[in-house]
Amino acid sequence: MRDAAPTTITIRRPDDWHLHLRDGEMLAAVAPETARHFGRAIIMPNLVPPVVTAAQAVAYRERIMAALPGDTRFEPLMTLYLTEDTDPADVAAAFGEGIARAVKLYPAGATTNSASGVADFDKVRGVLETMAEIGMPLCVHGEVTDSEIDIFDREAVFIDRVLKPIRKAVPDLRVVMEHVTTQDAVDYVRDSHKNIAATITTHHLIINRNHILAGGIRPHYYCLPVAKREAHRVALVQAAVSGDRRFFLGTDSAPHTDANKLMACGCAGVFSASVTMSCLAEVFEAAGKLSALEAFASLNGPKFYKMPANEDTITLTKGAPLEVAPVLKTAQGDVTVFDPGFPLHWHIQDET
Ligand code: NCD
Ligand code: ZN
Repeated sequence: MRDAAPTTITIRRPDDWHLHLRDGEMLAAVAPETARHFGRAIIMPNLVPPVVTAAQAVAYRERIMAALPGDTRFEPLMTLYLTEDTDPADVAAAFGEGIARAVKLYPAGATTNSASGVADFDKVRGVLETMAEIGMPLCVHGEVTDSEIDIFDREAVFIDRVLKPIRKAVPDLRVVMEHVTTQDAVDYVRDSHKNIAATITTHHLIINRNHILAGGIRPHYYCLPVAKREAHRVALVQAAVSGDRRFFLGTDSAPHTDANKLMACGCAGVFSASVTMSCLAEVFEAAGKLSALEAFASLNGPKFYKMPANEDTITLTKGAPLEVAPVLKTAQGDVTVFDPGFPLHWHIQDET
């Protein structure tokens, strides 16, 4: 049933369960954009060099906090980048001490800064078994990297070739299939009864591959996994608005300077942190399901990660279209802010 049409909605403060904050000047520019609305975020470890050890995660966390005002309530939730040399004992200690909340699996070469990722999955079996024992989630970039597999099929093939065997070998491992982009992934998660969840990005709820490629190439919509055809986008929206606790928000907000996006071989990544909550309100409203926004953005993620929901709230109010600055200025150059292609009417109150 569709909701009646409210013009204001108050929800628990949302969290972002997949976020790239980068480092240095870029970190300084983008961290406040997330901290303004979100309580916590799972921070991706794909720096150069990657965040592999507990000690590196502690140091990165300190750099993130230093980039934010002293009184921020934002809490970065750190992850460790899984390599074939990762030490299970270091991972277990980092989880036990609350330093790292999850481990991130990048198939080697799958995306931005993933060269140190995993090529031989047998080599990480020991780490995965340790994680299963201690209940530490594995965040998975779910794409195969085989150059013979069509880029639009890489997620579906990953499920069969990599994810199913891993979950069969280590059934107690708790897995987050990140930034799902296909009906196949939605079905797989929905049909699995335990130990799996999926994050969905803001932009994959809004764009399909035509937005990238039809009528001229639009590099600012290029990300990995690449957006698929419209039927897949519709499946993602249905999953997001369903309230099903296995689906929750991970923006995958991934800033790159325009100089690095607008080149012959441009970087993958969409920067959406600044506008995500307004975009989501539009998407959920259009589906007649604003009432499900809180589950998706604020409740389902903490449940999977076994954390309490945030105590405080944000209020979204519908009004005149927002005037969104098209770029975020950073010391490294402009970063284009995700343009959903429609006006954003939902204003977020109580920003700090
Ligand atoms: C991310 C990045 O830029 O770090 N890019 C992207 O297109 N999503 C990496 C990733 O999450 O794949
Ligand atoms: Zn990402």
